[in-house]
Amino acid sequence: MRKLVHRPRRLRRSPALRNLVRETALNAHDFVLPLFVSEKVTSRKAIASMPGVFQLAPSEIADEAERARDAGLQAILLFGIPTTKDEEASAAYAENAVVQQAVRAVKSRCPDLVVITDVCLCEYMSHGHCGVTRLDGEHFHVLNDETVELLAGTAVSHARAGADIVAPSDMMDGRVAAIREALDAAGFTDIAIMSYAAKFASAFYGPFREAAESPPQFGDRRSYQMDPANADEALREAALDVDEGADILLVKPALPYLDILWRVRERFGKPTAVYHVSGEYAMLKAGAANGCFEERAAVFEVMTSLKRAGADLIITYWAKELAEWIRE
Ligand code: PBG
Repeated sequence: MRKLVHRPRRLRRSPALRNLVRETALNAHDFVLPLFVSEKVTSRKAIASMPGVFQLAPSEIADEAERARDAGLQAILLFGIPTTKDEEASAAYAENAVVQQAVRAVKSRCPDLVVITDVCLCEYMSHGHCGVTRLDGEHFHVLNDETVELLAGTAVSHARAGADIVAPSDMMDGRVAAIREALDAAGFTDIAIMSYAAKFASAFYGPFREAAESPPQFGDRRSYQMDPANADEALREAALDVDEGADILLVKPALPYLDILWRVRERFGKPTAVYHVSGEYAMLKAGAANGCFEERAAVFEVMTSLKRAGADLIITYWAKELAEWIRE
């Protein structure tokens, strides 16, 4: 019999050998924890479709950020739920609105924690769309340029409150350039932009819309979010964001779009983030609760696959647990 020279199994014989040649290792600083702060609650409120995730009261946000930092995380991503919504999303960019206050509270408690803010209007619009809308009989239009102006103002108000990175998640055209320009004009040349370069119109955002109280009251988001069938278009959108000055590119959701993540990372060589979204979280939680698999093993496998596919940063509702598990 021929003597085999290449025996791949040699390096899998023991845990020590497997560790020695492992290509992808997860670290606490790979993860970003999304937090929801709501002006409408005075103590934390469970989100039914996302077991283990809560809306936090403004008075609780600094404590939670501190717990995240103590677990070893380096960054959080803030979403706000205001008491009042209107057709101009005024609570998105008011100086003392919910996110702006939360940023100040977190920064004064944990100055070194990187605070990323979601820049979008859907949580602040009475109709729940990500932009200014106009109804024409049955049809509605999202007015791109009017929206972009409000987004730029929102980003500046977040920077003024102390945010380190602003993350526009709306998918309007030209918003990265407009935000960059507005930040620079206001003196915030050092504030980075993490742009949702490829955000698909996904079924997996369902639980988030409960968490952020932002379901569209009519229509859907397909005129501004991307068609899940398109990969080349995702790369073109990412290229525009790069040209407009995005510092970090984000792909969302995660698992159904690993090919996009890989291609964006390879093509642009920019820091690339992926958002493991609410529906993906709910799906794994439900599977684990039904005894289909063990939660921790499944979560590690998924997160490892995201990093292997090119993610420099992973936004996940498991961030704090992951940091604790990694430490163990
Ligand atoms: C909205 C926004 C959404 C998410 C982040 N920002 C929802 C949407 O576009 O409907 C989803 C995040 C998640 O599902 O975890 N600007």
